[in-house]
Amino acid sequence: MPATTLEQVVALAKRRGFVFPSSEIYGGLQGVFDYGPLGVELKNNIQSDWWRTNVYERDDMEGLDAAILMNRLVWKYSGHEETFNDPLVDCRNCKSRWRADHIKGKCPNCGSTDLTEPRPFNMMFKTQVGPVADSDSFAYLRPETAQGIFANFANVLATTSRKLPFGVAQIGKGFRNEINPRNFLFRVREFDMMEIEYFVMPGTDEQWHEHWLEARLSWWAGIGVPRDQIQVYDVFKADLAHYSKRTYDLMYNYPTLGYQEIEGIANRTDFDLGSHSRDQDKLGLTAKVIPNPDSLARLTYFDQASNRHVVPFVVEPSAGVGRCFLAVMSEAYDEQIVKAPPAEKVEAVAQALQAFLKSVGRNEKLAAETRDALLERGEAIAAALPEALPQIETLLAMPGADQIEVGKKLRGQAQPVADEHFRTVLRFVPKIAPVKAAVFPLKRNHEGLVGTAKGIRKALQKTGMRTVYDDTGAIGRLYRRQDEIGTPFCITVDFQSLEDGTVTVRDRDSMAQERVASGELESYLREKIG
Ligand code: GAP
Repeated sequence: MPATTLEQVVALAKRRGFVFPSSEIYGGLQGVFDYGPLGVELKNNIQSDWWRTNVYERDDMEGLDAAILMNRLVWKYSGHEETFNDPLVDCRNCKSRWRADHIKGKCPNCGSTDLTEPRPFNMMFKTQVGPVADSDSFAYLRPETAQGIFANFANVLATTSRKLPFGVAQIGKGFRNEINPRNFLFRVREFDMMEIEYFVMPGTDEQWHEHWLEARLSWWAGIGVPRDQIQVYDVFKADLAHYSKRTYDLMYNYPTLGYQEIEGIANRTDFDLGSHSRDQDKLGLTAKVIPNPDSLARLTYFDQASNRHVVPFVVEPSAGVGRCFLAVMSEAYDEQIVKAPPAEKVEAVAQALQAFLKSVGRNEKLAAETRDALLERGEAIAAALPEALPQIETLLAMPGADQIEVGKKLRGQAQPVADEHFRTVLRFVPKIAPVKAAVFPLKRNHEGLVGTAKGIRKALQKTGMRTVYDDTGAIGRLYRRQDEIGTPFCITVDFQSLEDGTVTVRDRDSMAQERVASGELESYLREKIG
């Protein structure tokens, strides 16, 4: 059964070391996360696939890695100082602060409707540059990587002799002082962005906008986020960012959250290059730019066909890596029955679940919202037994569940059935799986088996495929552990391996096993991984 709630995905991400809260030993820092040993592999794989597709597999792209800190004038003329604001309201009752457009006139903390009028809050972080702390010595942490590309437009053009249309791709950190970071990696204050600024002749921008929409949807499908899980939202004129003539938001259907923006594809017109240029009145700009007496450059392109300088239009596909990571994990998540649990065991779990829900319903110490959330979740699980049985673990991890005495009994009934009859599996597209193969010896105290298994791990790892060795449990248990982190192939070295040099390779999705000569493992895996 696929993930029905974000909590299932979050619980797995934390349990298996994909993602940790930042600075957890000091209570964390809201809206900031660290990628753990498996998370960093998955994130790197997503980023390299994006880079490969957009830079190497096209012939019209260059890459860039601009600094996070930039002259603050960049943010003046980009329009961010003036307009990169969210509407903020204060609750007069409990003094909490919220984004006005997220709360529908009622404080989510105390329920009061006594709120201040919305006022703009600029989301750029400031930091001091150099030893003197005065009003001129600060810089912003960039809220988008795009400006590093615009500021280097003339440098890239001069050093690569590119002709329009061409694009510049960049992956890097962005920072936004979100008023209410929430939903795990979905809305955070520090995140990685994958951005393309694609420069085109004015007049061809709309056609390129459509091209990039299709190109991006195809990339998402290729990393396991299918077209039917994404809605394309044509942003209303009134809601467009200050630089945009038209924007398509790709909305992914996240568990719990529903359709939310995963990527924006904007037609930024000639706004940015025009705004950062001097002599703006001579450039024939179409965008309403900010008058710029500070720029040292004209960010134009000489068009030989028409023998004139033009300011290119820009199409910008921009995606956050964290939102992508969460979508990829949500799509891959599956809880599968591997061996049908006996009816009487399921019935015992169902009864324990009913007793738990009854107790929740009667418990007056629980806040109404907590109780309703537990009941809603629990009833959904009860209705979908036995398939939903492994979700009892996430139910018992919800706020308030620890106050229900019979919760322990429910766990005692459910856990052994979940362990024996189900597996959680992340069905990643193999090319982005954090670990490509795991190697096990059939017996951990047999020198020949262990030595061969370790040798195979080393040889595969040397080819660039992340491969791990494990001998800390029975083979069945080791398979489950790898399924849970999405490893597409498990290789077992047994006594036959010592005789004929073959090993068993077990496929994560079909669980089918076949014997492969160890000398052919690399080509076998490469062909399957693609
Ligand atoms: N340069 C264009 C730009 O920055 P955006 O729509 O503000 O556009 C681009 O951001 C993408 O960055 C979004 O589609 C989303 O995937 C991601 N993103 C934006 N704010 C985020 C946040 N606070 N936390 C995580 N990801 C975020």
